[in-house]
Amino acid sequence: MSAGMNNTAVKLAPSILAADFARLGEQVAEAERCGADRIHVDVMDGHFVPNISFGAVVVESLRPVTRLPLEVHLMITDPDAFFDEFATAGADSFLVHWEGNNNLHRTLQRVRALKKRVGVVINPATPAAVLEEVLQDVDLVLVMTVNPGFGHQHFLHTTLPKIRRVREMIERVKPGCELELDGGIDATTAPLGVAAGANVLVAGTSVFGDRKGVAAGMERLCAAIKQAGNPKTIGAQQCNSA
Ligand code: DX5
Ligand code: ZN
Repeated sequence: MSAGMNNTAVKLAPSILAADFARLGEQVAEAERCGADRIHVDVMDGHFVPNISFGAVVVESLRPVTRLPLEVHLMITDPDAFFDEFATAGADSFLVHWEGNNNLHRTLQRVRALKKRVGVVINPATPAAVLEEVLQDVDLVLVMTVNPGFGHQHFLHTTLPKIRRVREMIERVKPGCELELDGGIDATTAPLGVAAGANVLVAGTSVFGDRKGVAAGMERLCAAIKQAGNPKTIGAQQCNSA
């Protein structure tokens, strides 16, 4: 049974890292039609993680294509230096890592000053306990369920007890704070994450990499979550009637 999340709709955040960049606008619009709640934008600099992706120009291009919030996951060494650029491009929220940030409180305040939502991210090897001092200052916590840097990796089942601990901490310290998972989320792992207490799921490969297309990927995920007893059905219905 999920830890206090039974009657809360689960939100889906398709990650464009797995999209076909030649058809990015089209694919994001399809994800929106199929009930996506926000679009997850993975920014990598080749330093913080061993991969590079793209910068604010992609956010700028997507802004007129979708009405969904664009959440920017910054896997970069100096996130503070890029907030303005991404905010101007149309970002709605920022996810910043606990790891490698000597002044996380200041970083969070900078995002707040821009009137954007902010979340803190912890890697698989980082304990839940580090969140204790920042929970009051964030709108969401993102628990990485793979090591950051690449899409299409296997969900780390060893993160499940930690997800439960984070849910307990949120209920105790800041009910209403979202708990998001990122990495290896598919029809099998999504129900496990939700049962552990997550209420937002990032999904790259299982949405944009589905062989039958974005609608089929969204539908499969929605069905799995619904089957597990959570009322995330709107997306699937929209897909069926599309
Ligand atoms: C990994 C990224 C994820 C990634 C998820 O570093 O933060 O958002 O795109 O991709 P999948 O769903 O394929 O694991
Ligand atoms: Zn991500």
